[in-house]
Amino acid sequence: MPHQNVQTRALHVSSCMRPSNRTQKLCFGRQKLKKTTLLAATFAGLSVFATAGYAQDCKAVTVEDAFDLDEAAIVALYDCLKDAMAEGYAKEGDPIGKNYRNWIVTSTRPAVQGAHSNRLLQTFANPVAAEHYLKFEEEGVVMPVGSVLAKESITVSIKKKAARVGPLFIMKKLEAGGAPETDDWLYGGIQPNGKQMKFKQSFCHDCHESWEDQDFLAYPMEEVRVSN
Ligand code: HEC
Repeated sequence: MPHQNVQTRALHVSSCMRPSNRTQKLCFGRQKLKKTTLLAATFAGLSVFATAGYAQDCKAVTVEDAFDLDEAAIVALYDCLKDAMAEGYAKEGDPIGKNYRNWIVTSTRPAVQGAHSNRLLQTFANPVAAEHYLKFEEEGVVMPVGSVLAKESITVSIKKKAARVGPLFIMKKLEAGGAPETDDWLYGGIQPNGKQMKFKQSFCHDCHESWEDQDFLAYPMEEVRVSN
């Protein structure tokens, strides 16, 4: 029930929201669902994500909330947006923006789990990352240097009752010591118009840090995961 969903999120946030990461982590415990929903709220409050979608609207969506979309609606929506999406990310010549569609898709369709501003998300893994990523292991994960994950996003606008392309979110695994502050992951983002997003590395990593046992990867929702 989507409305219950929303309520649960709100309740959880009010009982758990704290200013420091440390307290947040205690609050999350080991329950991933709760963690994700709280983080979603954190995410939605950050303006870097609120302004990032510019590509053409897609009229295939008539619902007001991404959580209300069923599988068929999501597939239809993706079909409607996917060409414009890839063109947009490639527009400024970014090598990942141009190539990620040739990589390995890690879910059967885009899905919404809450984090990344309630967007519909679909992750692609480059050939270095794919074999490891697709195991979706929960402990002791060490991704090979050169792994890249690129995650498409679609924003459902409540106001316009329409969907549009959101940013392409990127994580690259550097050599040991390459980015000590973020456990050797480099975060990046391409806007729907092909331009680079600007943000602090800590903005991304403060959240991804919760998945330390999975080498800081959060993985797609279980029901849409592709297995290898
Ligand atoms: C509030 C928490 C949060 C923040 C902040 C966040 N992420 Fe994520 N990220 C997630 C979650 C949860 C997923 C898994 C979502 C899914 O695919 O369903 C994810 C997945 C990803 C993935 C796919 C690889 C994976 O983890 O499985 C990439 C790439 C990514 N995020 C990049 C970024 C970038 C770049 C930023 C900063 C601009 C960022 N993230 C900020 C929570 C967050």
